[in-house]
Amino acid sequence: MYTPKPTSRLVLFSLILLLLLSFLAPSISSELDTADEDGDDMEGLEELIALDEEEDLQQHNTEGAQHEKLSEAEFVSKAQRIVLELNNDNTKRTIDGNEYVLVLGYAPWCMRSAELMPKFAEAATALKELGSPLLMAKVDAERYPKVASSLDIKGFPTLLLFVNGTSQPYTGGFSAEELVIWARKKTGVPIIRISSDAEASHFLKKHSMFMVGLFGKFEGPDYDEFTKAAEMDNEIQFVETSNAKIAKHLFPDFKSTSLFLGLVKSEPEKYTEYEGTFSRDGILQFLDDNKFPLITVLTELNAARVYSSTNKVQVLIIAEPDDFKKLVEPLQVVARKFKSKIMFIFVDIREDNLAKPFLTMFGLEESDDSVVVSFNYSSSLKYLLESDTTPTSIEDFCSGLLSGTVSPYYKSQPIPDNKNMSVLTVVGKTFDELILNSPENILLEIHTPWCITCETTSKQMEKLAKHFKGLDNLIFARIDASLNEHPKLQVDDYPTLLFYSADDKTNPIQLNTKSSIKELAALVNKNLKARDHEIRDEL
Ligand SMILES: *[C@@H]1O[C@H](CO)[C@@H](O)[C@H](O)[C@H]1NC(C)=O
Ligand SMILES: *[C@@H]1O[C@H](CO)[C@@H](O)[C@H](O)[C@H]1NC(C)=O
Ligand SMILES: *[C@@H]1O[C@H](CO)[C@@H](O)[C@H](O)[C@H]1NC(C)=O
Repeated sequence: MYTPKPTSRLVLFSLILLLLLSFLAPSISSELDTADEDGDDMEGLEELIALDEEEDLQQHNTEGAQHEKLSEAEFVSKAQRIVLELNNDNTKRTIDGNEYVLVLGYAPWCMRSAELMPKFAEAATALKELGSPLLMAKVDAERYPKVASSLDIKGFPTLLLFVNGTSQPYTGGFSAEELVIWARKKTGVPIIRISSDAEASHFLKKHSMFMVGLFGKFEGPDYDEFTKAAEMDNEIQFVETSNAKIAKHLFPDFKSTSLFLGLVKSEPEKYTEYEGTFSRDGILQFLDDNKFPLITVLTELNAARVYSSTNKVQVLIIAEPDDFKKLVEPLQVVARKFKSKIMFIFVDIREDNLAKPFLTMFGLEESDDSVVVSFNYSSSLKYLLESDTTPTSIEDFCSGLLSGTVSPYYKSQPIPDNKNMSVLTVVGKTFDELILNSPENILLEIHTPWCITCETTSKQMEKLAKHFKGLDNLIFARIDASLNEHPKLQVDDYPTLLFYSADDKTNPIQLNTKSSIKELAALVNKNLKARDHEIRDEL
């Protein structure tokens, strides 16, 4: 007995997300051929390597003079001047001998490594200036494969933080600033304390997004929760002050109270005050709800962050930047209205890597017009705005999504002309009429263009249709599952053959597609016979 699998849609959906993420995830090996294209990034890499060689040279000279190994302290202090290059000799001592080591595993030919390398070096310099105890190290996994595998580096680039020799994955962003913020959070400095206006001005020059807390004293339960949230969060810099004037400097919307917490970010919605009680989870939830702009522009850099923020309904506007520009102002008004419930995302329709996977899910790969879609990650249903893209239509779409009055979208080809066809072509829109509401017995073939064995099954269907021709209570049909969807059609394997008996369309019987044509004919006969004792000759 065939039972529809409720998870199949989710599987498809996850696959597409995976596909998307594979363009973006940092620990995926990159293409060889692009490594030489971008001279600038390679320069960064070479600079860094040159610096390391200089260090090696210095270290060598010192060793030569002393005829002995550097002391641990000298070794570390030297290393901290710049990113340390790990090799077969120094890796174990570096990882075991330091409380915090952030390791970058790279390959010289890898484009994404080359992109990250200068940011890593910039972060290393910034952290050094801040007096961070973190040691930044890198390993050329191609030159030192044993070192890489001993550290469990499997792709490029990979970032791992070793705390007293035990590694944890990197979970921060990939700009130099985000690297610094994350590293400080994980090495005991989750919060920056600001005690003067000068410090505040200096801080504002460097940070456009941060969480600011005003506390009478840096202690007590409220403060503890604030600290816990700062440590737990992976991307936002927390600052604290005990001076209301400084708080106002950092957060001009500040209305004088003794205890205050607010999020500052880039325009157009710069200041958001936290109004909940001071609890770690409350603060983290507040950040989750507010850290994105009113409308997030999807990029390869932030895609992973956006995809992991599925606590809200996501509405994607996939459009030409010029068309989007015309929409953006009124859309911000709409976005503000739905702020706590819906996340608005703009996707540039010309960016195939980002836009195509979404358009494909709606069968709109070829669309040149703006497309507005939504996903519910819990139910794995998807929605399409089927009228023109205007601020009003988008607003109605959003209200409808939240009230549940927008119907989920199922892909369908146009309704075909089935005249004189021995095997009917069913599409998403005709599935109800031709399959579920039909009074006949139906043998349905579910295929896709990319499935290798589908053609064999299609030929068998043609033969079966010929064999059973004239039997008026049996219909042969096929559906292309890559272009057509229906909530009652949940199939993962292609081809699939389903026998829908005339008097029970809810429980189709799955026939083995590996059967010979004779076996299939017998199976069809058996199922027909079970219903109305109609018997056909064997083939
Ligand atoms: C690392 O080990 C040292 C020495 O045992 C200890 O004092 C320190 O607290 C440890 N650090 C962390 C973050 O666990
Ligand atoms: C999303 O799906 C879940 C699970 O089916 C449902 O509870 C929730 O109401 C849906 N949300 C929206 C906005 O449709
Ligand atoms: C369909 O079949 C009928 C009868 O066999 C025939 O008269 C008609 O021309 C056919 N139509 C097409 C479009 O082939």
